[in-house]
Parts: sequence; structure tokens; C-alpha cells
Amino acid sequence: MGRFEGHVALVTGGASGIGRATWRRLAAEGATVVVSDVDGRSAAEISAEIAALGARGRFIRQDVRDRAQWQAIMAEIRAGFGRLDVLVNSAGILREGTVEDTDLATWRQVMAVNLDGTFWGCQAAIPLLKESGRGAIVNLSSVSGLKGDLELAAYDASKGAVRLLSKEVALFCARQGYPVRCNSVHPGVVETPMVSTFFTTAKLSDAANWTQPIGRSVRPEEVAGMIAWLASAEASFVTGAEYVIDGGITA
Ligand SMILES: NC(=O)c1ccc[n+]([C@@H]2O[C@H](COP(=O)([O-])OP(=O)(O)OC[C@H]3O[C@@H](n4cnc5c(N)ncnc54)[C@H](O)[C@@H]3O)[C@@H](O)[C@H]2O)c1
Repeated sequence: MGRFEGHVALVTGGASGIGRATWRRLAAEGATVVVSDVDGRSAAEISAEIAALGARGRFIRQDVRDRAQWQAIMAEIRAGFGRLDVLVNSAGILREGTVEDTDLATWRQVMAVNLDGTFWGCQAAIPLLKESGRGAIVNLSSVSGLKGDLELAAYDASKGAVRLLSKEVALFCARQGYPVRCNSVHPGVVETPMVSTFFTTAKLSDAANWTQPIGRSVRPEEVAGMIAWLASAEASFVTGAEYVIDGGITA
């Protein structure tokens, strides 16, 4: 029996990177996976990937910025699967910009996906997670939510806010007596399309700032392992906590 037999998990941003590695890991351990992403081009590919793994689940196109779409996806999950045990908020975007040169449109865009999307997700999922009797939310923050970078004003602010939003959700659920835990994960530099695109286009003034003491990037599968543990019954007393996986950046 896998750790997630009988569980239903929703992973946002599941078309790529950490989200993709996470739902594959949860599925491998028995979960029924609902994979969502704004990137609808991946729908057929992801549905085929779920089937090829011999897993249960489906892809649903979703823009996490849109509260109505969150309500719709929860209704679909209730109708199609009858429960939700795990929510992983992995959808996110990275935009370069200092406090001086970040324009309002960029600021709003980053906040809308990274922060509003996570907030709407937590809010929309709590009723179903509560009903499951063992709900777990894992939110993707970053080392950039723990310390400043030189040129990521909006991203750092959004990820710092995700860190504290996660604690707020955790405390609220605990004090209400809801069986829902919520934690944040803080990766360093992970080998995903987000980062490979960023490092080829960014005009960073301090590349050394990105060096990780363990001299390599984190693999998405390593982050997925941490997320899976946090979502599992093994972490049943862990809530409101921040889990760093950064090869020593913040040590
Ligand atoms: N890669 C890293 O080094 C790193 C480090 C720390 C934290 N993170 C965080 O981990 C999460 C996943 O990042 P990744 O590296 O896998 O990135 P990625 O770009 O590989 O995947 C992100 C996914 O989010 C989706 N997405 C973007 N906007 C969306 C929206 N409005 N609605 C729904 N989906 C949307 C994209 O289509 C993409 O499939 C992000 O929140 C990111 O900030 C990444």
C-alpha cells in the first residue's frame, strides 16, 4: 500500500517542473491526481502521462488567478472524485526587476499568480480538505521568501507573503479544529523550465548570489519528495512550518 492510496490530490502548475514531479510522485504512491495548469496545450500530453503511469486522475485547465475557476475545480473534484485530501500550490511565475524598475503591471502579474493564486486555492480547498478528515496543503514559497535577492522585488515579496499566508492558514485550521495542515516549502535553485529560462534571459548583476553550497541545482524530484512527506500521514503533527531544501543557501 502506498502512502496515498485512497487519497485525491490536486497539484497546480502540474504541466511543468516541481508540480509535474510532485503529482507523478503522489500518483506513484497511490494517489488519484487532479493536475491543473493554465497551459492547456499540455492537456492531452498530461492525460496520456497519467494513464501511462497506470494512475487514476485527470488534467483540468485552470488559471489560479481566477477565483471562479477555483470554485469550479472544487465542484468538479467533488462531483468526479468525491473528496480532496491534498492540495499542492505549485503554479508560479518568476519575473526579474528591482524595487526601482519593476512596473505596476509586472508587480500585479507576479502577485496575482504567486500570491492571489495560492490564497484562492487555500480558501477554495479548505471545505473539501476538512471533510476528508486528513487534509494537507503544501504551498511553494522559495528561499526567495526567506531572504532578499538583488533583482526580484515582486517575486521575493510574493514568496515572503506565501510563507506567512501558509502559517495563517495553518493556525486558523488548527484553532477551528479543522483536520487540515498547511506548510510551505522553500527550494533553492531547482532544475526546471522556470529557472533555465530565467538564467538565459536575466541580466543579473550578482550571479554569485545564486551559487548553492552543494554545487548543483536541486532536482524537481527531490523537492517532490519533501512535498510528499509533508502531505502524508508521516507529517501528521507538522503544520505552519517552513521546509527549506536549498543545498545550504540559507545556512
Ligand atoms: N525552479 C526553482 O528554482 C524554484 C525555486 C523556488 C521556488 N519555486 C517555486 O516552485 C513553483 C514551481 O516552479 P517550477 O520551477 O516548477 O516552474 P515551472 O515554470 O517549471 O512550472 C510552473 C507552472 O505553473 C504554471 N502557471 C503559470 N501561471 C499560471 C496560472 N496563472 N495558473 C495556473 N498555472 C500557471 C505554468 O504554466 C507552469 O506549468 C513556483 O511557485 C516557483 O515559484 C521554484
